[in-house]
Amino acid sequence: MKQERSTPPIEADRILVLDFGSQYTQLIARRIRESRVYCEITPCTASIDSIRAFRPSGLILSGGPSSIDEEGAPLPPDGILSLGVPVLGICYGMQLIGRMLGGDVIRAPRREYGHAVIRILDDTDLFAGVDPSGAGTANVWMSHGDAVRSVPDSVEVIAATESSPVAALREKGRPVYGIQFHPEVSHTPRGCRILDNFLFHICSCRPTWTMTSFIMRTIEAVRARVGDGRVICGLSGGVDSSVVAVLLHRALGERLTCIFVDNGLLRFREVEKVKEIFKHNFRISLICVDAEDRFLDKLAGITEPEEKRRIIGVEFIRVFEEEARKISGARFLAQGTLYPDVIESVSVRGPSAVIKSHHNVGGLPEKMDLELIEPLRELFKDEVREVGRELGLPEEIIGRQPFPGPGLAVRIPGEVTRERLATLRSADRIVEEEVDRAGLATSLWQAFAVLLPVKTVGVMGDGRTYEHVIALRAVESLDGMTADWARLPYDLLGCISNRIINEVRGVNRVVYDISSKPPGTIEWE
Ligand code: XMP
Repeated sequence: MKQERSTPPIEADRILVLDFGSQYTQLIARRIRESRVYCEITPCTASIDSIRAFRPSGLILSGGPSSIDEEGAPLPPDGILSLGVPVLGICYGMQLIGRMLGGDVIRAPRREYGHAVIRILDDTDLFAGVDPSGAGTANVWMSHGDAVRSVPDSVEVIAATESSPVAALREKGRPVYGIQFHPEVSHTPRGCRILDNFLFHICSCRPTWTMTSFIMRTIEAVRARVGDGRVICGLSGGVDSSVVAVLLHRALGERLTCIFVDNGLLRFREVEKVKEIFKHNFRISLICVDAEDRFLDKLAGITEPEEKRRIIGVEFIRVFEEEARKISGARFLAQGTLYPDVIESVSVRGPSAVIKSHHNVGGLPEKMDLELIEPLRELFKDEVREVGRELGLPEEIIGRQPFPGPGLAVRIPGEVTRERLATLRSADRIVEEEVDRAGLATSLWQAFAVLLPVKTVGVMGDGRTYEHVIALRAVESLDGMTADWARLPYDLLGCISNRIINEVRGVNRVVYDISSKPPGTIEWE
């Protein structure tokens, strides 16, 4: 087989974060990657051999909710300070280091939480350039119960606060550091500088982790793995699957086939848009399966939300499998799994794992005789977007709001019919257009319409009407796990309402959903 050669990508320097369960662990990794150093998170239960095998340039012990003297408090593996690489402990990680180095760690009389000012006692390495004013202080964010009260002679105190005599420490003769506060949060304004000092001065990392190097490396790895095989990829039109498709297309050309299932539950002109972008702009071989009738027939008479979801999930897998079987030589299945999903599934002890209730497109086939390819496994969402931009995906796809796998079906409480779908699609299109026109599309997590299964009385012209209600839902959220209803301007709400009532047949009333999550969910079903 002929294989194109590309320049070997630069081997990236790597930092490993041991997760002791802090809610900020992912943030540490993201900050490090923003500084263009590759970083992974591993549960604190990792073995010393697996840590060594990662070949880190530096280690970070994260914070965590435990107190180090409590029963079952998580500990790092033995030998962690003797690997010959620099170590930085943050909060709980610092208390562990303090204890390992022979310091006195106590449960503080009261928990220190919130803003604090540290006095920098040594600005030669970790704190170099942190206080450009020269006053020798820095604002930081604290959140801890335990504290290191004193350290032996082998350890130097490099920062203190009013209430913590040891706010940062350094071992003499070895690059082992601990800081009591959180440099990764935005409330520690110079925190990035502290992390950069650790990365670039203490660990001597090079800032080579860029999306360009990721793309090169991935293309090469995919080519090596797939050989002359064929890959299929389920395309939903969302950001993750679109980026996977374009990336694999770069690597494999016509040996990639994408399958896009039109389940009849998609938004206005969605099928056409996806076809246009992938077939015409990228020339990706795309099979569009018109499965509207199959899905809607199966959904007829079904009103229970979980039953709807189940039916859609099962049907999706069936259609996908049928199509995949027609592609001869397909040995691989590509999926858009992201790094947060990977961490969630490996974090044994790390209570930083969050509960995830939804799976992409309702779970791709597991029993299929195909090997999985997950080229985005290492990336955070913002990195995926960056890759997408570098690959030339239009902003229309990259900046897209999330859309649930079961589509409009979960926005039609009650039975899903063609007529109701048409009504909802028209209303939803107006919401999308107006929110976009107001310039709010990218600042909102989601904005959409829901068709309620109630009719209310209205007047139009001289006549009485008795028609459906549309509910508007617009939320702000960071990750979809919690959300607040968006305070949309009244004028915008008014405009959307007027347009829906005037333009969408069968609707005579519009209401605005002002519930947050929890206790509400974002979708209505
Ligand atoms: P809820 O309604 O649970 O939704 O607050 C949280 C976020 O997840 C999206 N969502 C889904 N995404 N498959 C998906 O891929 C699904 O079945 C699904 N259900 C909800 C929802 O749109 C919101 O952004």
